[in-house]
Amino acid sequence: MLWLLFLTLLLLGSSIAGTPAPDPENELVGIVGGHSAPQGKWPWQVSLRIYVYHWASWTHICGGSLIHPQWVLTAAHCISRKDADPSAYRIHAGNVYLYGGKALLNVSRVIVHPKYVTAFLGYDLALLQLSKAVDNTAYIRPVRLPSASLDITPEHQCWVTGWGAIGMHQSLPPPYRLQQVNVQVVENEVCNQHYHKASGHVSDDSTLIQPDMLCAGSEGQDSCYGDSGGPLVCRVSGSWSLVGIVSWGYGCALRDIPGVYTRVTTYVPWITKQIGTCL
Ligand SMILES: *[C@@H]1O[C@H](CO)[C@@H](O)[C@H](O)[C@H]1NC(C)=O
Repeated sequence: MLWLLFLTLLLLGSSIAGTPAPDPENELVGIVGGHSAPQGKWPWQVSLRIYVYHWASWTHICGGSLIHPQWVLTAAHCISRKDADPSAYRIHAGNVYLYGGKALLNVSRVIVHPKYVTAFLGYDLALLQLSKAVDNTAYIRPVRLPSASLDITPEHQCWVTGWGAIGMHQSLPPPYRLQQVNVQVVENEVCNQHYHKASGHVSDDSTLIQPDMLCAGSEGQDSCYGDSGGPLVCRVSGSWSLVGIVSWGYGCALRDIPGVYTRVTTYVPWITKQIGTCL
């Protein structure tokens, strides 16, 4: 399991902080390979903020998705501790520009999945309850959760969005506009083989890609550092459904190394239970 050290969580600070020098080998454009998102196209996308004294500002660490007027779904690894203090977080919603000037929303409750240990073992999800429900506007609207039985295939039209790095050593430049990229879902078995190959443990039949994970992305089209917690949405019978949460990967956008997401369908019953009991 030593090679796990080479895997990367896709939250900000795990890699790009302090390594801003662009690497010509990685001159990739996009979220990686994406484009600027139109205002209002992904109205559930939020930015999770923590206060950084050094910059005296609420700083982006992860993405997230509004799944209810008062709830945000993100990755557990974006929240450092299970007993995290809700007042340590803020949510920015309703703007494609990361520091678009809108008031930040307060968080009143943090629920990390109780079985979460590390993203590489799964259970990488957390819920944040907002102090006050947000009103739907053209730019702020929750995304649908899929039905727990939905089978996601490579034929689905899926997109991932975020303000993360646009290359392995290249953070998103100002004015920090939300990026979107179309990614293809990769079956777990195939993804597991790719990861075994990347690790050099081809004959090892251990499961690296757990059933509660989902892979998507291809060479040049992927999520990257700073996108963690953000949405992977797919078109399902005419509307967007939240099928994945950006979780981890091996580098970004490398050939035959898809990004790994938390498979939301697995957790729909857990999510609805948490939200239901707090209403
Ligand atoms: C958010 O919480 C802070 C600290 O408790 C408080 O000063 C501020 O007024 C709150 N903001 C809103 C919009 O409720």
